[in-house]
Amino acid sequence: MRVAVCGAGDLGARHFEAFGALAGVEVTAISDPAREKLEPFSRRGVKTYPKTEEMIDESGADCISIATPTAFHSALAIRALGRGLDVFCEKPMARTVQQGQAMVDAAGKAKRQLGIGYTLRFNDAYRLARETVRAGKLGKIGVVRTSRCAESRPPWLSDIEANGGATFELLTHDLDWLQWTFGPIKRVFARGLSKGKQTVQGDYTLAVARFADGTIGHLEGSLAEKSAFHMSYEIAGDAGLLTYDSRRAKVLEARLVTAQGLVSLSEAPQREGPFAREIRTFVEALESGRTYEVSGEEALPALRYAAAVEKSIQSGEPVEL
Ligand SMILES: NC(=O)c1ccc[n+]([C@@H]2O[C@H](COP(=O)([O-])OP(=O)(O)OC[C@H]3O[C@@H](n4cnc5c(N)ncnc54)[C@H](O)[C@@H]3O)[C@@H](O)[C@H]2O)c1
Repeated sequence: MRVAVCGAGDLGARHFEAFGALAGVEVTAISDPAREKLEPFSRRGVKTYPKTEEMIDESGADCISIATPTAFHSALAIRALGRGLDVFCEKPMARTVQQGQAMVDAAGKAKRQLGIGYTLRFNDAYRLARETVRAGKLGKIGVVRTSRCAESRPPWLSDIEANGGATFELLTHDLDWLQWTFGPIKRVFARGLSKGKQTVQGDYTLAVARFADGTIGHLEGSLAEKSAFHMSYEIAGDAGLLTYDSRRAKVLEARLVTAQGLVSLSEAPQREGPFAREIRTFVEALESGRTYEVSGEEALPALRYAAAVEKSIQSGEPVEL
């Protein structure tokens, strides 16, 4: 299988390594309008393209992976699907629900796979939480809190209009994992620095979500972090409390507190990193012909919820879904 990577930034480099490490997969091309980012790949003998459209049309790849700023995801995915290529696209799948739906429609029409990079689905700390909740070990869930804090590193992240700020860059991860774990969200209410602004350096969103089953979600996303990236969750049920904090965990440590006291659920290193695991799973789906778990369709609810959060920030009112 020949793979071409769109975008030679942080995530493009990760895609390059993760696809390239798999047997039977060769990363043959990479694109980026910033030519200096292409040089290290060129030195490794990979064909490089400053124009992504040209790479999609002419590189002869079977599959493309998209790791560009969010603003470009939809048009590039639709172009590649239209040319009969399978597509793995970073989250958030698109800037708007309409763009996301158009990607899903294009995949359906082309009968190709569209996979979205919701890495938490392949992260043991978040998988463990889902299993614990669904096995009923925490009893009836009352509140779940999530937090995700990162630096506002690449300049494009400040452009709210084009890329969606903290709500799309960060909250979509948690929104996807939450709806996968707790089911549909019926109402959101949110505040954010992006209200009424086209650009924000260090954007911040705080959202409250009510799930169909009555669970209350409390989500924080910050692009104003000054130290290293960190993420956490706290899930409170009437039979226990499960917490995880990437700053505290040495490897993977999720804590379950019940009436009997603290039960540490797991402290084992994740043997295969979440990125490598998701890309291996995607390639295995292509090879076996089964549908990849986090298809475009599966990723659409997170986009709808992010759009509702954005609407609530702008209107100052709760949004019903
Ligand atoms: N799954 C995750 O946990 C995770 C983490 C961080 C970022 N992301 C996502 O990955 C994507 C890329 O983020 P990043 O952190 O790598 O950003 P980055 O700024 O490091 O890299 C993006 C690269 O894309 C290039 N680019 C811009 N327009 C392009 C185009 N039309 N074609 C090809 N390349 C183009 C830029 O020059 C830059 O080199 C974003 O959608 C982001 O939301 C996902």
